[in-house]
Order: sequence, then C-alpha cells, then structure tokens
Amino acid sequence: MGNIVIRRAAQVVTCSGFSARHGAKMNELGVIENGAVVVTGGVIEWVGPDEKLPAGDYSRHTHIDARGRTVLPGFVDSHTHLVFGGYREEEFGWRMRGDSYMSIMERGGGIHNTMRATRAASFEELYDAARQRLDRMLRLGVTTVEGKSGYGMDRETELRQLEVMRALNKDHPVDIVPTFMGAHAVPAEWKGREDAFVDWLIGEMMPTVKGLADCCDVFCEQGVFTIEQSRRYLQAAQAMGFKAKIHADEIVDTGGARLAAELGALSADHLLMASDEGIEALAASETVATLLPCTAFSLREHYARGREMIDAGCAVALATDLNPGSSFTSSIPLTIAIACIYMKMSAEEAVMALTLNGAAAVGRAAEIGSLDTGKQGDIVILDFRSYKFLPYHVGMNIVNTVIKRGIIVSK
Ligand code: NIG
Ligand code: FE
Repeated sequence: MGNIVIRRAAQVVTCSGFSARHGAKMNELGVIENGAVVVTGGVIEWVGPDEKLPAGDYSRHTHIDARGRTVLPGFVDSHTHLVFGGYREEEFGWRMRGDSYMSIMERGGGIHNTMRATRAASFEELYDAARQRLDRMLRLGVTTVEGKSGYGMDRETELRQLEVMRALNKDHPVDIVPTFMGAHAVPAEWKGREDAFVDWLIGEMMPTVKGLADCCDVFCEQGVFTIEQSRRYLQAAQAMGFKAKIHADEIVDTGGARLAAELGALSADHLLMASDEGIEALAASETVATLLPCTAFSLREHYARGREMIDAGCAVALATDLNPGSSFTSSIPLTIAIACIYMKMSAEEAVMALTLNGAAAVGRAAEIGSLDTGKQGDIVILDFRSYKFLPYHVGMNIVNTVIKRGIIVSK
C-alpha cells in the first residue's frame, strides 16, 4: 500500500464512474488538464487540477512530476486464458493456409491440444509461464486481468489452473479475477455425453471451485455447448453465487447475446456474429459487450460490430483474449489500434472500454477502472501529452510508469 502524489500531468483522464458506461456516455472521459492525483495508503485520496491540490503534508509520499504526460486508470484486461501448457504454433500455420479454427478443434487440435499439454504440466510449469505473461501485461499498463481455467476439463487440472491464479494473486502485482471455465469444450472422454458433462460440472466442479473462482464461463457455440446447456450451466453458477460470463456468438449466431442479457450476465464476449436482436438485448441490459479484436485479427475473421453496438447503447469493453490458439497476444496497443482503425471506435471509447467498462466486465467497477476518490490507486502514466496517442502511435507501447495500489511497479 503506497503513497504517491502525481503533479502537473498534461492530462488526468479520470474515466469517472462506478458502473459500466453505455453508448454515447463512453465518450465522456472526464479529462483534467494540468492535473494531479494523490494516493494514500494505496487508495485514491484526491483527483483534480494541480493548482487546487489541497495543502497538506506529503512528506511520506513519492512525488512524480508528470509534465508532458498523461495519467490514466490502470488497464483492465477482462478476458484472458493466461494459465495454459504448451503452444500451438503449427496450428497457426495451418490456419494461415486456410484451415478453420473449428475444423482444427474437431480433429482433436485447438482447445483439446492445449488441454492435453495443460494436463501434463506441473503446477510450477504453469505458474512460471503465467507469471512471465503477467510481467508482460504489467509493462503494457494492465493492473487487473481476468483469467479463465478451462484447459483441464478434469477435476485435478481445473483446480491446478485456479490454484496457480490464486498463488499469482499473492505473488504478483497484477490482480487476477479468476473464472471457472470447465465448459470450454467437451473432452474426448465425455464425447456424446454432453449433458452428463454439464451435470458433472454443475454438481461436482462448481461446489469444489467455489472459493477459487469469482465467475463461471461457457463456450456457447455450434458444436460445443448449446444455448440450453449454457443456460443450465450459468443459472446453476449464479444460484451458487458465481457471476456469469459467456463466449457468445463468435462463429455462429446461436442467440448467446440474448441469453447473456436474459440471465444478467456480467459480460457477453466475442459477439462477431451477434444479431441485431442480440445487440438490442445487450443495450437494454447491464451486461457488458466484451469485444476481442485481436482474436478476429488472428483468425482472419471480420470484426465485431463495435460501432453499431455503442450506437445502439451497449456498454462495450475491450480485451485481448490472450490464449495459445485464437489470440496469442496480450497486446493492449494492438487491441486499441484495431478497435479504433477497423471497428471505428473513438480513442475515448477505446480508453473507457479498457478501464471502467473492463472493470464492470469483471464485477469490480466499484473498486477499480477509474480515478475516483476511494478507488484502488491503480494508475498508468503515458509518455505523451494526450490519451489520443494510444491509437495514433499505432501498435507501440507508450506506457511510461505503472502504479499498483500507490506503488510504482513498472517504469
Ligand atoms: O476465447 N473460443 C473459445 N475459447 C478461446 C480460445 C481458446 C483456444 O483456442 O485455446 C477464445 O477464443
Ligand atoms: Fe476466450
């Protein structure tokens, strides 16, 4: 828990709020020119124009002169699969030559490939690899990340993935919001018994992971889990006190967006194929539409309709989907570049989507995601005078300093 005073920032971008911002409100970043921020005991104590900095004793604070720089809330990467064994570089080559993501999975590759490698990996191997990934994220300005299990799909390995996240939460400055994703694929030993597998996940696994995961997620997709199976799985999860998340309408529109809205899920993610009705349902709900542009980019698919979703009134978040298959990247700069250049989001919307709305997508908008008094002191300082450099300096990491709970953790 640190004390820090940041002064004379060209911009302090507050992203102020305690719940997701919808539609046009995503553009209201709350920018303070020549701004200052005070963090005391790890918590934001004051934010405002530098000339109004309250007189006080800051002798126990670290002082940062942010002249010419931009101060933002730490980024929240609200959708990743960061704990996994092995890699799938051969499959990437096959896809570039024209194989589809689903055809590789149906042949026993894809998620099944990573499942075998993750089952074979020890706790230490998974921990070390995930820790390095967290280090990279931190340097890119990520202060909170969501992480999913789902590469075990058996009791032991699902627990190992979640325990790795619990250990990293203690050992690493980046906070991890853990999600149980036992329903990521149907493993070979359950093939043809999909409903029984869902029963097992609900009856055996959910009670077991209760203290280890905040959320439950399911890959609702043609050939994976149906809408009915997904509804049953997520309703059971909610009844046990988990928050619901869903991989929805990625490859085929199966009505996943509508289901997410109906259930009051935290987020519906991917949404490449989401229908107009699905988008309307999300816009009318509190469910965050989480878009993953690096996945569509890596799969050479068209992008989700981010512009239309925001215009329809959705609360949109952006995330990397870091995983060894469809999106092997934790690049926030690439995510922002694609969102602005190809999904036609404004720089303001992209910033909101990676801060407050990302926080809402992991159920933490009351604690993180903005520079509001009382929130956690998670802060990013950019090398440039405006947040507008984030999409403009295409693909570059322009993060200068990362602060977690008032402590400088990357510079
Ligand atoms: O979000 N679509 C399903 N799950 C992941 C990919 C997992 C993998 O390919 O290993 C995703 O894209
Ligand atoms: Fe995913």
